[in-house]
Amino acid sequence: MAILEIKKYGDLILRKKSKVILEVDDDVKRLAYNMLETVYLANGVGLAAPQIGVSVRLCVIAVDLDKKSPIIMINPTIISSDGNKISDKEGCLSFPGFYENVKRYNGVVVRYTDLNSRELEIKSQDLLSRAIQHEVDHLDAKLFIDYLPEWKRRFVEKKVKRNRNTGKW
Ligand code: NI
Repeated sequence: MAILEIKKYGDLILRKKSKVILEVDDDVKRLAYNMLETVYLANGVGLAAPQIGVSVRLCVIAVDLDKKSPIIMINPTIISSDGNKISDKEGCLSFPGFYENVKRYNGVVVRYTDLNSRELEIKSQDLLSRAIQHEVDHLDAKLFIDYLPEWKRRFVEKKVKRNRNTGKW
């Protein structure tokens, strides 16, 4: 397995819509395991393939503190939500050091394909649900700062720009 470099905000791949995976082959499996190793090392709760520079619909969810039950999702689609949105602090491995309140559905049902090519559906709530919505957004080129009020988003962008100019990004 290998640790992958996480692309930070400003990298154009984060704004590119990811492609559907047609076959769960060894390359997809290797990529998924490397992403898992990467997200655990970074202490993240999730990572999407575009964040490591691969524009395909694959993400890993690592809300398991014991690191024993991660969820690897291929071509995930959110098929329903409980309609109830709540605001909570959220970060992103592509925005190191930034945490903002984002409103998300408290519960969603997601359908995806696993590494054994089985189609599965899980009902999620709270942190798991938030992580799933955040990662599926990445596959659609949507980032958590897109949910912020415009003034706040500009503020974050300005700080990122400053970090980039000083080589801290
Ligand atoms: Ni993220």
